[in-house]
Order: sequence, then structure tokens, then C-alpha cells
Amino acid sequence: MSLDIVILAAGQGTRMRSALPKVLHPVADKPMLGHVIHSARQLQPRGIHVVIGHGADQVRERLAADDLNFVMQDKQLGTGHAVAQALPAITAETVLVLYGDVPLIEVETLKRLLSKANEQQLGLLTVTLNDPTGYGRIVRDAQGQVTAIVEQKDADEAQKAIKEGNTGILALPAKRLADWMARLSNNNAQGEYYLTDVIAMAVADGLSIATEQPDDPMQVQGANDRRQLAELEGHYQQCQANRLMAQGVTLRDPFRVDVRGEVSVGRDIMIDINVILEGKVVIEDDVQIGPNCVIKDSILRRGAVVKANSHLDGAVLGEGSDVGPFARLRPGSVLEAKAHVGNFVELKNARLGEGAKAGHLSYLGDAEIGARSNIGAGTITCNYDGANKFRTVMGEDVFIGSNSALVAPVQLGDGATTAAGSIITQNVEAAQLAVGRARQRNIDGWKRPQKIKKD
Ligand code: UD1
Ligand code: CA
Repeated sequence: MSLDIVILAAGQGTRMRSALPKVLHPVADKPMLGHVIHSARQLQPRGIHVVIGHGADQVRERLAADDLNFVMQDKQLGTGHAVAQALPAITAETVLVLYGDVPLIEVETLKRLLSKANEQQLGLLTVTLNDPTGYGRIVRDAQGQVTAIVEQKDADEAQKAIKEGNTGILALPAKRLADWMARLSNNNAQGEYYLTDVIAMAVADGLSIATEQPDDPMQVQGANDRRQLAELEGHYQQCQANRLMAQGVTLRDPFRVDVRGEVSVGRDIMIDINVILEGKVVIEDDVQIGPNCVIKDSILRRGAVVKANSHLDGAVLGEGSDVGPFARLRPGSVLEAKAHVGNFVELKNARLGEGAKAGHLSYLGDAEIGARSNIGAGTITCNYDGANKFRTVMGEDVFIGSNSALVAPVQLGDGATTAAGSIITQNVEAAQLAVGRARQRNIDGWKRPQKIKKD
């Protein structure tokens, strides 16, 4: 059965009180609409049609992709009117309607719904709630067959007492759609063209309505304001935490870890509190992550240790390496196996060879550091002359004395040593000691300055 998906995303979202269109508000760093598109793609439809209106340019700009057809709805005249705008682009047998502000819908739920839709039957996703206020109500006849959806504002008291609500998500036969769209009217409490009116039309035309429900009502929860957005975020994070734990990760507190991207994990990983994982993060077996760490687009090999308050972005930590506390690894930082980065060390585009160490207070940028080399406290690679960047390259077993400034481009051979406080502007051959500082003079009989007396 071929499929076209229509995602409704033209509404304003006044209650967000925001310059950003509602569907661009993020859950886990990704626009709500992005989550919906992600789910839609997994159904491998013939087309994905995104109906946009408020903030259309922003939405298009943010989410543009070859497989998306953006459809303009200039005036938001209702959900039925919105779907009608996409009608000319629809060629498949089945149309699935999704909402751009309902981001947590799961593909499995949609597959179940789609399995019920055919030429003679609509699939309608409903949700039973203790308080269905605001939802269209699902009206059933004595046999329990769905006969209509009545919007809250058009409902009488008996209908308002119905606990089964319309999620808005439905699957319907495309070839009937044009006819039903043409028959919609806005003669109702809100003066809108309701998509929900197609239910009664379908029943009148002799089709049946099959309903499905999501396993968890949060899957169909929309965000109309920032409080609901926070609820979605919280729920999403709980799901991520549960997934990590199910895969063999110990979370010191599952309520205090945030996943904002795609994280893949091995086993026996320990994650302390307030850790944020962003973008693509790979964490292998036996890794330990201390509290208050932000780890973005990084790979942590088996047994790596990240100590408290470290910030990693675009880093690769080799097996058994360790960083922090208070380390900052910027893009292109690579630690080979068992390398060590201590506190207040910043790396950028720098490789520490196997077993190499930078224990304290250093900036290592555009640098290649050979195996077992030791970088003394206060070492700076002077990689930038104000216009261009240059590299510092050192071999194996190099020893950089504390407070050395390595003025790039510069190279140090295997086993080279620099004296503490040196400014190294010339290459150092293997096994040489480089002393790049003024010789110490001790002056006898020195008199300290006296305070000048004022009258
Ligand atoms: C709609 C349903 C209601 C359901 C509820 C679930 C109708 C008539 N009512 O009501 O039965 O219980 O959703 O949340 O369908 N949109 C457009 N263009 C428009 C109008 C809306 O793109 O002209 C989009 C909105 O951006 C939103 C979605 O459609 O993503 C739903 O619109 P909304 O106004 O929130 O519908 P409700 O009145 O809540
Ligand atoms: Ca709504």
C-alpha cells in the first residue's frame, strides 16, 4: 500500500509567546517538527508534505530537505483546509495525517494504525484520558462503532463527558479525500474547516472507522505552551534514560542525565549526575563519566574515564585514557590509549600519543604529541600569529618543562627536553635539551625601593 504523509505545521502557537514558530521549538535540541519528520521517514512514504503558514520561511529554512514538499497555507482556516492544500500533491493510496507539534509519536504506533487503513476503512488514533478537555470527542453508536468526532466547542454535555479523545492522527484512503474536502463546511463554533468532519462523511459513505491507541498517552501529547514543551522534554529524557539502563548503563540518577542526539552505548558504563550527551556520541564498555560533564559528538573507547566538570566536543578518547576534572577538549582532540589529560587543560585539533600526559593548566592547539611524552604545567602551544595557524609536532618521550611556550611552527625530536620557562622558537633535535630563557643572575646588596613620603 503506497503512502503519502501530510504533516500539519501551519498554526501560530500563540501561547508559546515566541518569535520562533511553534513547530521549531526543540525537544532534546531538535525541532518538534524534526522529530515528526524523522518518524515519517521511517515509514518510507512516497511523499512527505509539510503544511506551513506561520513562520513559513523559518520552518522551510530550518528543515529543508530533498524529500520534503512544503505546502503553503496562507490562512489557517482549520485542519481540514490545511490537508486540502496538500491534496494536489497526493498520489498514493493512503494518506497519513500527523501534527508538527506532536513530536513523540512512535513509528510502531503509526504502523499499527496504518495496518487498519484501507479503501473501505479509516484508521483513527484515539486516546482515553481522565481529563480530555480541549480534545475532539469520539462519538460511538450502540454497537461501539465510531460515527463522528465532535469538537469540544461544539459538544453538548453528554458528548463532553466522553473520555475518548481524538489525537488528530489518522490514516485515510486518498481517492475519497478530494470529495470529502470539497464537502467540508465551516459552519461550526470556531468557523473552521474541521478535518474531523470527514469521519461522519466516511461513515455516511459506508466506510468503517477502526481505532488504535498509543501505548503511552505522551506519544500523542502536543505542546501548546512552554510548560507542555517541558513535559515533552522530561518524558523524552526519561525514555532515553530507560533505554540506556536497559542496554547496560548505570545512571546514578536517571532524572539527571540528558540525551540530546544519538547515543550508542556498550556495557558496564557508569554515568554520574548532570551529564549532557549531545549529537553523535559513542560510549564503549567500561567507560566512566563523572558529574557535570558535557559530551558532544565524541567517541569514548573502552575503559576511558571522564572526570567531573569536563567539556568534550568532537573528541576521541582512546582505551583507558582519562581526562579531567575540568578538562576542555575541542574538535579534533584525540587521545590515544592510556593518554592522560588533567585539570584546566584545553586541547584543540591535537593528538596525544599512547601514554602521553598533559597533567595541568595547558593549551595544546594544532599539535601532535608523541607516545609517552610529558607536557609540563603551564605549557602553551603558540599556534596563532594573529593571521595564520601553525602546528607543533613532537616525537616520542619528549619532556616539556613547566611553563614552556612552544612557538609554532616548531618540531621537537624523540626524547627532546625543554627547560622550564622556555620560549621555544626553533626546532629541537632528538635527545637535545633546549633552554630558551634568560640565565638567572643573583645581585648582591640589593636594596628594595622605599615608600616615598608625602607631606
Ligand atoms: C485538533 C482536532 C481535535 C483534536 C486535537 C488534538 C480538528 C478540527 N480538531 O483540535 O479533534 O482533539 O487537534 O490536539 O482537527 N493546523 C494547521 N492549519 C490550520 C489549523 C491547524 O496547520 O488551519 C495545525 C496546527 O498547527 C496543529 C494542528 O494542525 O499542529 C492542530 O491544530 P489545532 O488548532 O491545535 O487543533 P485543535 O483545535 O487543538
Ligand atoms: Ca491543539
